[in-house]
Amino acid sequence: MKTSLLSLCLLPSLSWAVANIADGKLLYDESCAKCHHSPYESLGWNEITSKAELGSMIESCSDYFQLDWNAQDIEDTSEYLNTEFFFLEK
Ligand code: HEC
Repeated sequence: MKTSLLSLCLLPSLSWAVANIADGKLLYDESCAKCHHSPYESLGWNEITSKAELGSMIESCSDYFQLDWNAQDIEDTSEYLNTEFFFLEK
């Protein structure tokens, strides 16, 4: 009992450290889906070939639209889009 309570308390802090796909979906639906639709549709000519490229595209889009996203928001959204659409290995 004690251990399960403890692990419950630790969960939020753990999910902060790794990408949170559920948060990524919320962020995406709120700020990106109006252009890219849901599920995601690509709007550009260039194919995304790596997670780093995906992350930097998301960063440019969020900068451009002045969303004031932090690194965690970008990572969450990147992970969400990758599991739904891009399926990039690295
Ligand atoms: C106002 C419309 C608009 C919004 C809002 C927007 N984007 Fe984009 N996005 C575009 C357009 C247009 C392009 C294509 C730009 C190009 O290739 O020159 C693009 C390109 C991209 C790309 C590169 C792959 C592709 O589709 O070409 C990614 C990834 C991306 N956006 C993610 C996001 C994310 C994540 C958000 C939310 C933070 C977001 N965008 C918000 C219009 C938008």
